[in-house]
Amino acid sequence: MGAWPDLTEYHEAVQHPQRAFADPGLKAVTLELDRFGMPKPATGGNAVVYKASEPGRFLSFKKTWAIRCFLRPISDHAERYEAISKHLRKVHLPYDVNFQFLKQGIQIRSNWFPIVKMQWAEGDLLHTHIEKHLRFPALLAALRAKWVTLVRHLEAAQVAHGDLQHGNILVRGGSIHLVDYDGTWVPALKGRNATELGHRAYQHPERSERDYGQEIDRFSALVIYLSLAALERDLTLWERFHTGDNLIFVREDFHQLDRSAIWQQLRRIGSREIDQLAAAVAAMVQQHPMKVGNLDSVLKNPASYPASSKVPTSIPASTPVTPVQRVAPKPARVPTPPVPSWMKKSGYRDHSDD
Ligand SMILES: Nc1ncnc2c1ncn2[C@@H]1O[C@H](COP(=O)(O)OP(=O)(O)O)[C@@H](O)[C@H]1O
Ligand SMILES: [Mg+2]
Repeated sequence: MGAWPDLTEYHEAVQHPQRAFADPGLKAVTLELDRFGMPKPATGGNAVVYKASEPGRFLSFKKTWAIRCFLRPISDHAERYEAISKHLRKVHLPYDVNFQFLKQGIQIRSNWFPIVKMQWAEGDLLHTHIEKHLRFPALLAALRAKWVTLVRHLEAAQVAHGDLQHGNILVRGGSIHLVDYDGTWVPALKGRNATELGHRAYQHPERSERDYGQEIDRFSALVIYLSLAALERDLTLWERFHTGDNLIFVREDFHQLDRSAIWQQLRRIGSREIDQLAAAVAAMVQQHPMKVGNLDSVLKNPASYPASSKVPTSIPASTPVTPVQRVAPKPARVPTPPVPSWMKKSGYRDHSDD
């Protein structure tokens, strides 16, 4: 195998599906193009994704695929995907999207590289959905209730997604779909290390590659839950704390439990529920990432997270606030490859589904 392809090479190759793909369905696809007539990619940092349609045959619906090309190699990728796919087929969750890991996926410089061929999930990414519904707290509350059910189902099915964050969560009407299973854990992967650490703005600050198990979604599940609950009550949080690449928290908030401004702002809401959830996040930060409780246990015993010196609910209003730089955080996984300037001009999108 030659050098791993970069964005530009993928971009070039997908423009000739007949030559680029081995899969018969993909050979016939038409790629979604931007206004300059170039393939319109999406990326979250680990992969570049193209939306492509297969022409519908007589009496069959047109199939729309997400073609996911990897920006870095992972040695046991095929095995991991096989284990994940097998487990997901067995547990039948309504949140995952059909996918196939194709080892002979895309041909570049006469070499084959793997891709994931995945059903295209319609909908808005979580942050876009929230932004559109900020003025409808009842809809955010409904989404929050759905979130609890989703998290409960994943736990019961012994699946951990590994990177719960806005870029991997699609919301359409009343349903939620998860995409990007690179970091997913299923029981057959017990004993391995994680291949990525998830998005910084959602993860336990101490999470490391050795932490890989059922527990890895718990912190992010609670962060998302608390974010929704807080936004239902105070939509100005969005304006102040949303950076474009988070919901309302950034990683530094988890390091500065008793200092950064968001904790004070949450306290000002004056809601017992929010105070307790904030205290639960603070308590989790002080536990080992693999020892944290699940969302259901937090919701069942909200009062079991007492205010302590490190817990945000104990902050006196006069405590000086350390300014946290709320720049859009970068995913903690791999450095995002530079985006060629021509790609930016042609509508390259990052965490946006427009
Ligand atoms: N099956 C899919 N359906 C719809 N959009 C998708 C799908 N898979 C990926 N995407 C889009 O592509 C983006 C990047 O894909 P993702 O698989 O999350 O890659 P990364 O590992 O780089 O985060 C997502 O944020 C989403 O906008
Ligand atoms: Mg992603």
